[in-house]
Amino acid sequence: MQPLQIENLSAWYKPGELILEQIELHLEPGRIYGLLGVNGAGKTTLLHTLCGLNRHFSGQFSLSESGIGPESTEAEWYTAKSKRYLATDAPVLFNELTMRGYVEFIHKLYHRSLDNGELVHLARQFHCEVYLDRWVSELSLGNKQKTVLMTGLLLNVSLFILDEPLVGLDVESIEVFHTQINDYCKRGGTVLFSSHLLEIVQRFCESVFILHNKRIALHVPIHPDTDLHRIFFEAVRHE
Ligand SMILES: Nc1ncnc2c1ncn2[C@@H]1O[C@H](COP(=O)(O)OP(=O)(O)OP(=O)(O)O)[C@@H](O)[C@H]1O
Ligand SMILES: [Mg+2]
Repeated sequence: MQPLQIENLSAWYKPGELILEQIELHLEPGRIYGLLGVNGAGKTTLLHTLCGLNRHFSGQFSLSESGIGPESTEAEWYTAKSKRYLATDAPVLFNELTMRGYVEFIHKLYHRSLDNGELVHLARQFHCEVYLDRWVSELSLGNKQKTVLMTGLLLNVSLFILDEPLVGLDVESIEVFHTQINDYCKRGGTVLFSSHLLEIVQRFCESVFILHNKRIALHVPIHPDTDLHRIFFEAVRHE
């Protein structure tokens, strides 16, 4: 089952000012994809549109065969939303919950049961076990980020979407995250990862989409000798 298929998707905030134009994109299960583009290219707009956070769009997409278009009902959105999880660079958590409470709460929203043993094991990997019962309001940026990432890893929905998610993570935690998303994909999940950190994208992703001039300008498979810097700068060069 394909985790994401996008057909002819255009999106905007103000009528007549397209941010994305006729986007076509198809993801296969069990793979890690990168999404690159300069500031303002429309990466967040694309990811927010897929997640229902921007409803100004035309065309259609499907998340694990749950089809969505501009006329979709809330019930159809509800089903589609359960197939994906979004982690962003600015995690908005609930200060009244603990780290563990937040992970549990999101699992309830997705109607999934949380295995506390798995959470403790993952928190140990991320070196944040001691914070599990601390209030979210007391957590550092990196530990808030880890809360969101652990939630996504444990939920195991078919598409894990990440919008510049590593801001605030220490070097060791980035490596833990790398191992964990590889395992996520081995379990059949798919990762769509937007970042400006080309070295990390090159190391983590099997292929990369470059968003430029409102469209997917390039789809680049990543091999050990791929020069992603050169390919990226050529794709987004200002004429
Ligand atoms: N809520 C909004 N209302 C109006 N315009 C917006 C809104 N959010 C974003 N935009 C505009 O849409 C365009 C794409 O922005 P977007 O945030 O998707 O880019 P991005 O590729 O994620 O950039 P960055 O790398 O800086 O995160 C920009 O021109 C931006 O100014
Ligand atoms: Mg963005």
